[in-house]
Amino acid sequence: MLEVVVLAAGRGTRMRSRLPKVLHTLAGQPLLTHVLNTARQLAPARLHVVVGHGADLVKQAVAAPDVSFHIQSEQLGTGHAVLQALPSCAPESTVLVLFGDVPLIDAALLQQVAASASHGPVVLAAKLEDPTGYGRILRSATGNFKAVVEQKDATDEQLRVTEVNTGVIAAPATRLKDLLHRVGNDNQQGEYYLPDVLALAVTDGDPVSVVTTDDALAIQGINDRLQLEQLERLYQRRYAEQLMRDGVALRDRQRIDIRGTLRCGQDVVIDINTVIEGEVVLDDGVTVGAHCVLRNCHIAAGTVVDAYSYIDGAIIEENCRIGPFARIRPGTQLASGARIGNFVETKNSRFGIGSKANHLAYIGDSDVGDACNIGAGTITCNYDGVNKHRTQLGDGVFVGSNSTLVAPLQLADGCFVGAGSTVTDNADAETLVIGRARQRAISGWQRPVSKKDK
Ligand code: UD1
Ligand code: CA
Repeated sequence: MLEVVVLAAGRGTRMRSRLPKVLHTLAGQPLLTHVLNTARQLAPARLHVVVGHGADLVKQAVAAPDVSFHIQSEQLGTGHAVLQALPSCAPESTVLVLFGDVPLIDAALLQQVAASASHGPVVLAAKLEDPTGYGRILRSATGNFKAVVEQKDATDEQLRVTEVNTGVIAAPATRLKDLLHRVGNDNQQGEYYLPDVLALAVTDGDPVSVVTTDDALAIQGINDRLQLEQLERLYQRRYAEQLMRDGVALRDRQRIDIRGTLRCGQDVVIDINTVIEGEVVLDDGVTVGAHCVLRNCHIAAGTVVDAYSYIDGAIIEENCRIGPFARIRPGTQLASGARIGNFVETKNSRFGIGSKANHLAYIGDSDVGDACNIGAGTITCNYDGVNKHRTQLGDGVFVGSNSTLVAPLQLADGCFVGAGSTVTDNADAETLVIGRARQRAISGWQRPVSKKDK
């Protein structure tokens, strides 16, 4: 039986932020959320999160039925933090401790650590080119694990050790409890250090197993904003390279950010500086121009999204054309071949097959039939200040430029709205709708004369 304890009570002083460190985001998600999702892959009996600094915010951000919280009211160190959760762990269980600030920890590695911990303590170690900041692993002349020494407590010689403590430790629950109660705080920071249980175990004649990894990304801890940005870049680079291996044409793998998941069909082309948020699916042959933001959307095969478009919460069928400079808001559905051009905003609206709004329009809460043409400057007045109302256009409706469609409104198939109309009443099929003052041509009209000339 496995119990996972995630430490997330620290202030994160080095971030110099009001936000608790574990809530800073990597790839669009709080650091702690990454850790919890990875832990879930091990199917533990329980997920314990130790909170303290900013406890309410942290709880709010990650609350879930499988998570139980434990308060560490004073941050007296990682060892003290684990003690807050231990009474809630089954005595016969294996306890796996993770840090909320090590976001990309890998499930397979954790599995390995947990599996080796049924009899005694295990620590996950890594060899790093630059071990600065980490606790160093000290070994005996014969190579056996001796202890972890923190950066702040280490001698110059110890600082030269490049093998580090990743923070991941597992041990049988009762053994861990016993060891933790014996840990003192006689060190530079006056804290109860979790890794000190390992040295105590060795003194007891209990060997400590070391699982080692060379995956620097997986074990990187975040202590300051530089490390956070660095890890974000590494993460993005790795994601981009995987996409390319899977057949996606990224114009520049250094200039795409994926804050969520991107699934692509074949021959998808993505130009520079695109940001992907949430769940995005791009089917075969989709082309995305430069500087687009795509968020929770599905774009079907052959659709072209031109530069500077923002698509959020939309379903787009095949061979549509969007942008440049389009804003597609949640609830938009475009049937195949639809076109949404520059400076057009759509929201909660359906466009039928081949319908177009090519320039400067706002289409909200609307059902647009097939083969409609919405002229430049068309606005659906969907909001009366209190309620939203729908605009319904049949098939083949033509809306002349600069028209105002005041909802609720229904224009049946084939209606033709003269440019500049304010349309307030429903119209039957195939009618011409004009809602504007008639033009007058006044002859013999006198231009105003300048007062000075009088
Ligand atoms: C810790 C380890 C170090 C290791 C490194 C790996 C200790 C003493 N040191 O150092 O050996 O190389 O992580 O990243 O364990 N926390 C609490 N309560 C506390 C103190 C910390 O919940 O009282 C939490 C923090 O929120 C954080 C985690 O524990 O998520 C690690 O704490 P941090 O202060 O960042 O430890 P490091 O100095 O990075
Ligand atoms: Ca840390």
